[in-house]
Amino acid sequence: MLRSKSAKVSADLIPGRRILALGESLRGLADGPLAGALIEMGAVASLEDLQSGGADLVLIDADALEATALAACVKALSAMRNSPPVLMVGENLPAGLVRNLLRLEAADILEAPYSPEDLAAAVQTLLVEAQPVVAAAAPGAASRCWGVTGAVGGSGATTIAIEIAHALAVQAGKDRAVCLVDLNLADGAAAAYLGCAPTTRLADFGHAADRIDAAMLGAFVTPVSRGLDLMAGVRDPNAFDAVGRDAVLRMLEVACEVYDYVILDLPRHRRSWTLDALAGCDEVIVISELTVPALLAARAYSDEIEDALSTGLRPRIVLNRLASRMFGPAPSMTEAEKALQRKAEAGISSDWEAAAASANLGGPIAQHRPKSKIVKDVQALVESLAAQPPRRDAPAKAA
Ligand SMILES: Nc1ncnc2c1ncn2[C@@H]1O[C@H](COP(=O)(O)OP(=O)(O)OP(=O)(O)O)[C@@H](O)[C@H]1O
Ligand SMILES: [Mg+2]
Repeated sequence: MLRSKSAKVSADLIPGRRILALGESLRGLADGPLAGALIEMGAVASLEDLQSGGADLVLIDADALEATALAACVKALSAMRNSPPVLMVGENLPAGLVRNLLRLEAADILEAPYSPEDLAAAVQTLLVEAQPVVAAAAPGAASRCWGVTGAVGGSGATTIAIEIAHALAVQAGKDRAVCLVDLNLADGAAAAYLGCAPTTRLADFGHAADRIDAAMLGAFVTPVSRGLDLMAGVRDPNAFDAVGRDAVLRMLEVACEVYDYVILDLPRHRRSWTLDALAGCDEVIVISELTVPALLAARAYSDEIEDALSTGLRPRIVLNRLASRMFGPAPSMTEAEKALQRKAEAGISSDWEAAAASANLGGPIAQHRPKSKIVKDVQALVESLAAQPPRRDAPAKAA
């Protein structure tokens, strides 16, 4: 069974293509469905040694390899800069392996039994799909990066970052529009809120940040919905120490090349990369609650960011969980602005039911409770920020 769209590709792209094949059963394909292709037989080591551009496609017969060898194949391909598209064929393909394989930029599976036409169609589709990657990664594409961070713990930064990212993705209506990056490397919650599994292991890069490119980024992100991808690390208490500054900044740099919008869920505590990441943002949104301690923290935090960056960037303070005064002596918006000594950019209504239900179901509030006031308020915030001219003085760059 072909996993992705059935291939209806008119141009015959196969003749002359260099196909690296793993598995004896694939040897004769150049005389059959892949007529005209230049098939080179290889092994796991060939993938480990494969250079970018060394093959136009990798074809793997999963039935011909041991599970460890198959896992090594996928690992070698994920670690490759600009890995070629990959087609894996076989019976009873292991689910975990398939999941990892499909995280590659261009990959598909074909479960046996399949016809020669199915195979040719899958190969052609992958060859076509592999082309836009280069275009998407073209440097210089105008992207916008917004950082969201909480003035105090639990103020709603992750919730609002998710809603902003979702709203922008819906507005864009196209693939690869928005990447939400959870920079709470040790214990980020964005993946759990979205009901998906985090995949990134930035720690694996150690000091080889320059290996991060668009293809590798594609293998690391988790697709959430049309237009929205999530980059979030697996839980790791040592992640902040294990992940180098260069790896974080390089990853952000590549994300900004690939996506129209990059939304950062930023931890409050400063890391070696925090100021560079903030300096690369067009907008920094500080989320505060309507309590006096949170407002004082929001004011101090915004001042700290402004002073440390000295780029003229003014964080925008968003007051979250605005509730009716009926529920207690909360400060009014005017009183809040007095405590902040600056204007608040926007307010987001409180709606515990919608926030909790969405977190429990896994997904944005806009998906599970589209009528919530939170959704309306976030939409207004997104529209007002998107209307600002892009402003990025110092794009985040790895040293
Ligand atoms: N506008 C809102 N109305 C009601 N509940 C909300 C709202 N915004 C966030 N919440 C709830 O507040 C809690 C904290 O939210 P969230 O995890 O987004 O905060 P955070 O600032 O990211 O926290 P942390 O400091 O742990 O990263 C969650 O239970 C969330 O569902
Ligand atoms: Mg959070």
